[in-house]
This record gives sequence, structure tokens and C-alpha cells, in this order.
Amino acid sequence: MSFPLYSLPEEHQMLRETVRDLADAKIAPRAAEADETGEFPWDVYKALVAADLHAVHVPEEYGGTGADALATVIVIEEVARACASSSLIPAVNKLGTVPLLLSASEEVKQRYLAPVARGEAMFSYALSEAEAGSDAAGMKTRAVADGDHYVLNGAKMWITNAGVSEYYTVMAVTEPGIGAKGISAFVVEKDDEGVSFGAKERKLGIKGSPTRQVILEDVRIPASRMIGDPGTGFKTALATLDHTRITIAAQALGIAQGALDYAVGYVKERKQFGKAIAEFQGVQFMLADMAMKLEAARQLTYAAAAKSELAMHGEPQKDLTFFSSAAKCAASDAAMEITTDAVQLLGGYGYTSDYPVERMMRDAKITQIYEGTNQIQRMVMARQLLK
Ligand code: CAA
Ligand code: FAD
Repeated sequence: MSFPLYSLPEEHQMLRETVRDLADAKIAPRAAEADETGEFPWDVYKALVAADLHAVHVPEEYGGTGADALATVIVIEEVARACASSSLIPAVNKLGTVPLLLSASEEVKQRYLAPVARGEAMFSYALSEAEAGSDAAGMKTRAVADGDHYVLNGAKMWITNAGVSEYYTVMAVTEPGIGAKGISAFVVEKDDEGVSFGAKERKLGIKGSPTRQVILEDVRIPASRMIGDPGTGFKTALATLDHTRITIAAQALGIAQGALDYAVGYVKERKQFGKAIAEFQGVQFMLADMAMKLEAARQLTYAAAAKSELAMHGEPQKDLTFFSSAAKCAASDAAMEITTDAVQLLGGYGYTSDYPVERMMRDAKITQIYEGTNQIQRMVMARQLLK
């Protein structure tokens, strides 16, 4: 039996070059400003749409490019290398729409995926609430059946790209008192009567991506907008995260790669004690550790992406949940360490906003928190090991 060659397919390598060129030309120059102003970078969104990179995962039958999970990871990685906030455009479009791909009726898929593929609408994912973050099944948002409609009331907290997205996958309780089995998923539109948004959260990082509450007051929507059957919403929400925690790993890898690349360039230029600081072994060992941690996390993420792709195409992977959590946890922990070391390698300059590494360090922190904190990822991994 021959051992298959262990390398990225050529088309994925070419995709990386294409995205890197676009990111260097149009996204990197906007990253500091998006961070400083906290404004959503609409010009970056338009550039991603023009290059068909804003929602690459949408299958061809719904008007998308049908990129596989590894290609999607590479797109997010390369955008995040330039600007973490902007990388949430392809990442959250995937997060919002995977529930549809996994569980929605053909009618819902046709109606909502095509506008996303065309770049006319973005799609967010609304699971968390103020009192239900890690314990997501503890949500209180209600959806009450009323004829052939549902009426939604409640508030979803921390919703990425809220206000700029047209569509929202909203998880809500349809049968109280039975926990996870009483939760259903729905598509809610920004323009539905009764939908409003909280003020933008003032955050440590990813400031160019708005995080807001989605407030639902007597929002009456057709029952046909339910994703899957009543009571399956929590399973769909968690099954989605099995695919999308991998995209957060990709975001973390990109941020870390950006910081490492910047630090490598800097240490070759910066002179102290009459020579480039790159000549000091103490500096070299830090760089070696940074690159080693990054590459280890990247390999785990790509392995997880391969499993995600198979699972999406009818070949269930019993270890996808483990790999997805492991990739997200390993890549985000690595990103936090690598970006912190990059600031260290730039010394006092690294601590200022005249250089990009402090922004990268602030941006990296969120990857240890969202799509489940890294404590929750460890809990998920341990449950898989012990079950
Ligand atoms: N796929 C499908 N179904 C799953 C599943 C999976 N991966 N994991 C669990 N389930 C099923 C279980 O089998 C169970 O169903 P049955 O009772 O029929 O067997 C049901 O879901 C409930 O599972 P648990 O009993 O394990 O649920 P729990 O209440 O103990 O919590 C948890 C599980 C892992 C803690 C989960 O709540 C969790 O992941 N919390 C973290 C929340 C999170 O990740 N939020 C992300 C928000 S999105 C975000 O942050 C956006 C962004 O980054 C941009
Ligand atoms: P808590 O659950 O209150 O956790 C607090 C601390 O307790 C953490 O350290 C946690 O790890 C720890 N902890 C909790 N339970 C356990 C346990 N059992 N064992 C060990 N430690 C535990 N959500 C969405 O639905 N959609 C989005 O688009 C979205 N985007 C986000 C964007 C940003 C910028 C932020 C900050 C959050 C976003 N979230 C989103 C929410 C995010 O997923 C939650 O913040 C996260 O899951 C943690 O929930 P929490 O903030 O309520 O923290």
C-alpha cells in the first residue's frame, strides 16, 4: 500500500497566494484604522466580494464557489494575517449558514444562501445570551407557536457582525423545562418587525467587527423559517460548532503568522550591542518556539478541516468533535503566546500602536474565548475521551 503524499494540494497553495496578494494590497493597509475607529471595513467587504472570497464555503448549487473546508481555512488564515476583524467576514458567514447546510429545508437554503453567495447579505449566528454563555442550553429566548408562525422574544448577546448582517440563525426555546431538547433554530431577518440591536460593545480587540445584542420583541416569523425540526436547534448549533471552531483556529493561525512574520523582519533590522538582535541566541530560540507552536497548531487545524469536509459530504467522522475543539484550543493558545512574544521581541516599540504587533496580541485574545472558551474546549475533548 502506498502512503499518500502529505502536502497541500497545488490548488490550495495557489489559493493562499491569491488571498495573500489581495490581503497585502487591500486589507493590511486598513487594519490599523479599523482597529482605531471601530468601524466595519465595508471597503474590505467589497474587495472580498469582488474576489469571491467573502463566503467561499457556500456550495455551487446555492450560487457559491463551493470551496472545501481546507480552502476556507486558508482564506480565513490569510485574511487574519492582515486583519483579524476582516477575517470574521468569511468566518461568520460560514458560522451563520452551516446550520442551514446541516439542517434546513431546501426552500430555506435556496432562499437564504444565494444572497450570501452573491455578496448581498451577511449571516450571523445567535446562540449566546447574557446569562447563558458557556451553558448555552440555559438560554431564555422564547419562540411561541402561533398558527403557522412563531413569535420570538428575548435578547441574544455578543453577536458578531450584528447590525451589518442581514440574516441571523437564532436559537430559541420552543418547549420550556426540558433543556437542550426544547430548543429550536430559526432564520431571523434584520428587517423583521421587532428586531433591534444593542450598542456596539467596547472591546479589547477585533474592534472592526461589531459585537452587539440582537433584541427580539414580538418578532413574528413564518414557521417555515425554522431550521430543521422542533427541538433539534441545540444539536444543530453544536454540530455547527464542530465545523466552525476550525475557522476560529484558522483565524488564530493567521493572527499568529502575521505577528511572527513581523517579528522576524524586525529582529534582522534592529541593532543593539553593535549587531542585529537576530544574532542573539535568546532571540533565535524565541523565534524557533513561536514557529514550532504555530506549525503544530496548523497541522492539527488542517487535519480537523479534512475531517470537517468529509463529514459535510456524508462521511461522519467520529472524532470530528475532538479535532475541532483541539484545533481551536491549540491554535488560540499558540496565537496568544506567539503574539505576546512578538511584542516582547519588538521591546518598547512593540508596546506602541506605531507597530502592528500589539493589535495582533489584543486580537488574539478573543480566539481563546469565543466559539466556546478554551476551558469548554478542554471539557468537550475530555468528554470525548471518557465517553
Ligand atoms: N453535535 C451534535 N450534537 C451534540 C454535540 C455535537 N458536537 N455535542 C452534544 N450534542 C448533543 C448531545 O448528544 C445532547 O443530545 P441528547 O441529549 O439527545 O444526547 C445535546 O446535544 C446536549 O448536549 P450536552 O448534554 O453535552 O450539553 P451541555 O448542556 O452539557 O453543554 C457544551 C454542552 C459543550 C458545554 C455546550 O453548551 C457548549 O459548547 N458551550 C459553549 C458555547 C459556545 O461554544 N458558544 C459559541 C457561541 S458562537 C461564537 O462565539 C461566535 C464567534 O465566535 C464568532
Ligand atoms: P462564562 O460562560 O460566564 O464563562 C466565564 C468563565 O468561566 C470562563 O473562563 C469560562 O471558561 C469559565 N467556565 C464556565 N463554565 C465552565 C466549566 N464548566 N468548567 C470550567 N470553566 C468554566 N456568541 C454567539 O452566539 N454568537 C456570536 O457571534 C458571538 N460572538 C462573540 C464575539 C465576541 C467579541 C465575544 C466576546 C463573544 C462572542 N460570543 C458570541 C459569545 C461567546 O461565545 C461567549 O462569550 C463564550 O462562549 C463564553 O461565555 P460567557 O462570556 O458567558 O462566559
